[in-house]
Amino acid sequence: MSEVHVHRVQPAWKKNALIDNDTYLKWYADSVKNPDKFWGKHGKRIDWFKPFSKVKNTSFDGKVSIKWFEDGETNVSYNCIDRHLKKRGNQTAIIWEGDNPYDDKKITYNELYEHVCRLANVMKKHGVKKGDRVTIYMPMIPEAAYAMLACTRIGAIHSIVFGGFSPDALAGRIDDCKSTFVITADEGLRGGKPIPLKDNTDKAIEIAAKAGTQVEKVVVVRRTGGKAGWVQGRDVWYHDEIATVKADCKPEMMKAEDPLFILYTSGSTGKPKGVLHTTAGYLVYASMTHQYVFDYHDGDIYWCTADVGWVTGHSYIVYGPLANGATTLMFEGVPNYPSQSRFWEVIDKHKVNIFYTAPTALRALMGAGDEPVKKTSRKSLRVLGSVGEPINPEAWQWYFNVVGNGKVPIVDTWWQTETGGILITPLPGATDLKAGSATRPFFGVKPQLVDGEGKVLEGAADGNLCITDSWPGQMRTVYGDHDRFVQTYFSTYKGKYFTGDGCRRDADGYYWITGRVDDVINVSGHRMGTAEVESALVSHDKVSEAAVVGYPHDIKGQGIYSYVTLMKGVEPTEELRKELVAHVRKEIGAIASPDKLQFAPGLPKTRSGKIMRRILRKIAEDDFSTLGDTSTLADPAVVDDLIANRQNKK
Ligand code: PRX
Repeated sequence: MSEVHVHRVQPAWKKNALIDNDTYLKWYADSVKNPDKFWGKHGKRIDWFKPFSKVKNTSFDGKVSIKWFEDGETNVSYNCIDRHLKKRGNQTAIIWEGDNPYDDKKITYNELYEHVCRLANVMKKHGVKKGDRVTIYMPMIPEAAYAMLACTRIGAIHSIVFGGFSPDALAGRIDDCKSTFVITADEGLRGGKPIPLKDNTDKAIEIAAKAGTQVEKVVVVRRTGGKAGWVQGRDVWYHDEIATVKADCKPEMMKAEDPLFILYTSGSTGKPKGVLHTTAGYLVYASMTHQYVFDYHDGDIYWCTADVGWVTGHSYIVYGPLANGATTLMFEGVPNYPSQSRFWEVIDKHKVNIFYTAPTALRALMGAGDEPVKKTSRKSLRVLGSVGEPINPEAWQWYFNVVGNGKVPIVDTWWQTETGGILITPLPGATDLKAGSATRPFFGVKPQLVDGEGKVLEGAADGNLCITDSWPGQMRTVYGDHDRFVQTYFSTYKGKYFTGDGCRRDADGYYWITGRVDDVINVSGHRMGTAEVESALVSHDKVSEAAVVGYPHDIKGQGIYSYVTLMKGVEPTEELRKELVAHVRKEIGAIASPDKLQFAPGLPKTRSGKIMRRILRKIAEDDFSTLGDTSTLADPAVVDDLIANRQNKK
């Protein structure tokens, strides 16, 4: 194994830190020994309209039931806004940094209150009620946060769809949760290029209508002023609407376990699942992890570069930071526009103290050399974070030495859409760091490694990562399909939550996530089900069969490699290859575009017809010395053809 870079906690990190190592060890022991007592105490970090008397009521067995703080009542938008107004009404809640560096603004907590109340009233005016599903398809502008918080204020359940998804993907999500109210913008803007959000929405609404869900109202924010279609009676401008309503809106009383939001995520099979998070446990967990993982202190300027279309944007741009009364920076653009220094310039411009980004962005910026970083100061930085995929030690060391000048701790945070918040992570003042390791579990989290048969592995070991007991931020169900929830997460290893990730634990008890062990691939920190890409490919009328696997990619972490068998008589041409890639883009979105597409006269299958993905993965990696026994294949000769025509020849 390659050398492990260890970085001990520096005196400066410990000096004002919220948690030192002794505190971590004590709190962790308390949290797993007596979760009721531990979370009973920390559950009070949010304000309650009606206090809870029960803390934890969870079971990973049988039908699986997860309830936290169940008899308490509260409201998320109240906790993220109203309760701060007395002390920090004039403090900046959101710093918005536009795609264009000359475009920015600041929104105070007082202003946030008014924006959110007005939009909540607009939704009410159009008949949105507690429990209704509202789809948000927005660029990274403050109105996206207003929309989320407005939903929570009136008890509507939001479902955000990432702006990079196609009309088809948006339609599927609208239809799955029967959402009849959509909030969008005319266009988004990223790296100087417009993204036709309203046009996509119009197309999606048509597709959803055919599937049986009729969208009744679309609120449109004017972002670029670009061309956008209009359906009279259905579409309304945000700026017109908010002028017609009051600037106050009473927050709805929500039970702790009332649904808060749905977020669709890819799995190894079938269409994306609607991950459902509920009100109180989620907020307690998001705000607590935000505070301790980033060692957040009052007055810090905090920036997470994610998009609100992903869970990181939910928990660590909006809900966690705002529940803590923080100043959170929202960035509309991309890391390399207008220059490779953009991230670091924004840090200097707004004096960012805490910066949280993804390894894929770091690897891309690293490729541009140290100069674009070094010409900026970055003096304000105190904590750096990483999320979304394994960070390779080289990128970790670059982040530490070049971006942080060797003086700033890196928190490599492992978690998932399903977990609601960070589960395995260093704490800046407490945890000695090892480049590439997410280190130790957060309070209340009980990781376990098991082998393929479910045997529990002790000590230093390599296995599949499970979590053996519940934490407040955990998803509660798959929207509308509880059986799928139980089947997906609790049936592989009975009584345990199975993460789908492989993981190694070293002799110090540190966890090293090795990546997915199921048919999910992680492209630039975005989760993609191979089955989804395959079904997009076979929906093309010239394709008879397709198989998709991941392969190591220098920047993206993993790339998408697809094998395609064409219908009889169809010629494999360069043009068709391009057409198929474009077809996947249209069906799902640019993030699902195959990086490599190989025409395959046949796919390697067992005699019972099962595709041997192991072989396809090896060929995609250009490593076919260890293909194993292929003699049991229905037609062993297909492998020779696949090898001869492989697209990743080194
Ligand atoms: O494989 C793990 C990887 O991302 C997956 C979760 O993806 P998603 O639900 O989209 O959430 C991403 C943001 C939390 C995990 O199953 N992953 C996430 N963070 C890390 C990671 N892999 C290694 N190290 C991480 N820090």
